[in-house]
Amino acid sequence: MICIPVTDKTHKDALQTIERGAQEADAVELRMDLIPDGDLPGLIDAARRASKRVKIIVTCRRPEEALLPEPIDLPFRKEGLSLAAKIDLLKQAVELGADFVDIELACGDRAIRQILSFIRRRKSTARVIVSWHDVSQAPSLAKLKTIFHACMKVGADIVKIVPYARKMEDNLKVLSLIDYAIARDQKIIAMCMGELGQISRIMAPVWGSYLGFAVLRGGKKSAPGQMTARTMKEFQHLLQRNRRSVQPWLLPPGASNFVLLGHPVRHSLSPLMHNKALEAMQIEGHYSAFCVNDLAAAIEGIRGMNIRGASVTIPFKTTVMEYLDEIDEDAAALGAVNTIVNDRGRLAGYNTDWLGLITAVQDRMNIAGKTIAIIGAGGTARAAVYGIKKQGGNPIIINRTLDKARVLATLFDCPFYPLSAIGKIRAHVLINTTSVGMYPQIHQSPVPAPVLVNFELVMDVIYNPLMTKLLRDAETRGVKTIPGLEMFVRQGAGQLKLWTGKEAPLALMKKTVRERLKNIENRDE
Ligand code: ATR
Repeated sequence: MICIPVTDKTHKDALQTIERGAQEADAVELRMDLIPDGDLPGLIDAARRASKRVKIIVTCRRPEEALLPEPIDLPFRKEGLSLAAKIDLLKQAVELGADFVDIELACGDRAIRQILSFIRRRKSTARVIVSWHDVSQAPSLAKLKTIFHACMKVGADIVKIVPYARKMEDNLKVLSLIDYAIARDQKIIAMCMGELGQISRIMAPVWGSYLGFAVLRGGKKSAPGQMTARTMKEFQHLLQRNRRSVQPWLLPPGASNFVLLGHPVRHSLSPLMHNKALEAMQIEGHYSAFCVNDLAAAIEGIRGMNIRGASVTIPFKTTVMEYLDEIDEDAAALGAVNTIVNDRGRLAGYNTDWLGLITAVQDRMNIAGKTIAIIGAGGTARAAVYGIKKQGGNPIIINRTLDKARVLATLFDCPFYPLSAIGKIRAHVLINTTSVGMYPQIHQSPVPAPVLVNFELVMDVIYNPLMTKLLRDAETRGVKTIPGLEMFVRQGAGQLKLWTGKEAPLALMKKTVRERLKNIENRDE
């Protein structure tokens, strides 16, 4: 339901807005505090005459209840309206047949109950919207839930909660509050004010908010961030029409949603891979990438919303750990989480990176008792060393900066060498965990080609390009290779197993990612 707030300077102009609003929208909100000479009976009568089906909301905010952080050209406010006068006006609205009256939670229990009992006594069908606004910020989801319950407790027919979005993630809180209300069978109007809150204005009605507010073309806004009714309708039409492609927001409760949290995430192939897999696994759900600025807020969103699982990528793999309720033993040992499982609000962190890497090698060669040289000493190298040790292999760390190699080697009690010594090293497997050779530096390799004959198997964790220079050099010398794609899809399959309990279609995932990467390579040539 879309509602047009009526905020005109004069009663006469308000009549015109009502007329247009009644045609274009489902409801009109008579902001009696903003129409100086507004005559309530006349305005309600005009709305009824303009359309029989249009719903009428009557609101009268006192100045202290309606401060706005952004200058908005609001014509007038009734100064010094007492609470008693406001209650009288709302009672009058009930008698005149308004469909809804809006009263702030801040007006207090007594005032709200007065209105509610008045409605009962008059046997009116009017409903009470108990509203709460924060014009400067969006508090935590926990605080919003407390406010929600306070509104419910005083007997709200409809709860209205509208904070001000300071960051994109604030929208997630508000949308998750809608889910929270629906699960409790409570009608809610929720959205964020402000430019950054616009996305919630579009999404909220689609997501289950009882109504959304919009303005007429050329009309006055009553809160920052409002769009025209036409724009909102167009968005909603598109969202409904493309219901499948915007599933993350539109899935019915019970479906499984998954997200990627990282920064940046624009080039990630995880959404493509996971969505293909989910479809093949016949799991009603969608995976989408979020570029996160505020990790704490994003985690709150996962908890509150219908999100079954998350992938975590750079730069949050370590920092995310402090927000989780449980950390699996492997992830704790690695000091990094790349997977979150949400079990009804309880978040557990796992790491499937090491598993992806190790199973890719294990598929070709039994690791137990083998010597495996790892180039690099960062997070991926750590995952490799950890996994190799766990499988009974003997890792050797080789790194450009010897001190970093030493730190890792001390932790896992294994030998270490500077990268310059690569020519002297012989091992069953060589694994590159550095970014050398990654797109766009596709003509670089971390090691000179001739040394590759000292290994039986060479693996790269880089998957873009599919065949790095390191792997091409190895193949030229008859050395077997494992492309990074193998690790990438296996860590993804590990995530799907944790989220769904089912085996993921590895071959399909590989094919999907390979084809996309080939297309990218062809385009760049
Ligand atoms: P990740 O978490 O992906 O492993 P990281 O923690 O940044 O990433 O680690 C990257 C590793 O690649 C480091 O060991 C780095 O070597 P230094 O310790 O000497 O910095 C290595 N690396 C990055 N660029 C490199 C290059 N051009 N040549 C050699 N090693 C490189």
